[in-house]
Amino acid sequence: MADKENLEKRYKRIYDQLRELVLKTENKIARMATIAAILHHKMAQFFWTGFYILIDGELIIGPYQGPLACQILEKEKGVCWAGVTSKKTIIAPDVHKFPGHVACDSRSNSEIVVPLIDKENQVWGVLDVDSRKFDAFSDIDKDWLEKIVKL
Ligand code: SME
Repeated sequence: MADKENLEKRYKRIYDQLRELVLKTENKIARMATIAAILHHKMAQFFWTGFYILIDGELIIGPYQGPLACQILEKEKGVCWAGVTSKKTIIAPDVHKFPGHVACDSRSNSEIVVPLIDKENQVWGVLDVDSRKFDAFSDIDKDWLEKIVKL
């Protein structure tokens, strides 16, 4: 229980900090880079933290923190594409069991993908976080990361 409370508190602090920081510019790249940096450095279990942007039907790498990632994700394959096509947050507790999982780094074992949805209800990208731990992400991560991407 204490772990859950601590996680909630940490997300709350991060959210409040990001809410101030995003006011500095409306530029999406700047905002995504700021979100990736803060999340990555404040959440110890985040091994890779970043964005993929949907451009001309392809998922192309955006701002991120962590080890080198795939620049383009093969269409309709893996966790990120599942987030795009379902328009829902996807949690993969064990990425090795996820159909078509794209292993950009073999050290990742679990993953959460949150779609970025515009005012017309169209997906324009995803926030993707990988962990070296199995089963690192819960509904607490889902709820807070969904709030954070709305920033
Ligand atoms: N594992 C993702 C690809 C992106 S990397 O994790 C950074 C996927 O299956 O879509």
